[in-house]
Amino acid sequence: MNTLRLIQIAHDDPAATRAELIAGLSAPRAALSPKYLYDALGSRLFAAITELAEYYPTRTEAAIFRDHMAEMAAELGPVATLVDLGAGNCEKAARLFKVFAVRRYVAVDISADYLRESLDKLQYEHPAMQMLGVGLDFSQTLNLPAEVGAGPRTLFYPGSSIGNFTPDEALTFLRQVHAACQGGNLLIGVDLVKPDAVLVPAYDDALGVTAAFNRNLLLHLNRLIDTDFDIADWRHIGLFNHAESRIEMHLEAVRDCFVRWPGGARHFNQGERIHSENSCKWRPEDFADLLRQAGFTDTRQWRDERDWFAVFAAFA
Ligand code: AVI
Repeated sequence: MNTLRLIQIAHDDPAATRAELIAGLSAPRAALSPKYLYDALGSRLFAAITELAEYYPTRTEAAIFRDHMAEMAAELGPVATLVDLGAGNCEKAARLFKVFAVRRYVAVDISADYLRESLDKLQYEHPAMQMLGVGLDFSQTLNLPAEVGAGPRTLFYPGSSIGNFTPDEALTFLRQVHAACQGGNLLIGVDLVKPDAVLVPAYDDALGVTAAFNRNLLLHLNRLIDTDFDIADWRHIGLFNHAESRIEMHLEAVRDCFVRWPGGARHFNQGERIHSENSCKWRPEDFADLLRQAGFTDTRQWRDERDWFAVFAAFA
């Protein structure tokens, strides 16, 4: 019987967060990191998005894992340590435990506290498996603590979260992932380019859940840095930027307005936007190339029958 361990690596300091957000709001083209979409309500709204008919990535990826899990396990071999990046409720990783013969599970998410409940339950269900929860913001630097242990690891990064990095950022991140594998491998979900008629509604759904997810960012900012955003002044925009091959989410001022915060303010003209998220859509060959540039020597991929989504295995 193993006992669950949880460790928290220092959070951002509030002064740095404040400076980053004010710089983003004050820039001529205002932009904010998508990580601020995920306060408690934002995380719930994202979970609701994954249930929408229009939002295909979550269920398409799940179907790829369901249909090809045994083949993936054969490619990877028994997994000594599975490191789950952005683990959340740990559900996606838990589906792999048996077939992948996982011996040690390391769940990484921004806060170790978020992981406690899910990991407690998993440790109870899998008493022979060692489990570690790591609270770490890896969006800037992936620096896994020594407690993760030595030896090759399988890093698991599902959900197409890699798309929320620009290609340059994705390359920097994947180089860090390559180093963190310690000679092991990576299993990663990637959303693919597809027609606008599928992509745009996935990020601008009829019920307005994605709009609520995006506009909630402003309420989060009001709490974080005491801005006075009135969400009635802002509407959600979800568009596909063909030149950059990415969905972009923006918040657009529906009228001229002032936003104030302690020590500063900004005027937004009607139609001015705050860029709140990118979600890059990859061509499979370009993503395979990116993995090679990051240092991975060999890759394999599995796709759904519509070629909407891919799961890549990459070998360090
Ligand atoms: C978390 N991430 C992969 C989602 C995506 O599809 O880029 C976030 C999201 N934004 C709007 N809808 C979903």
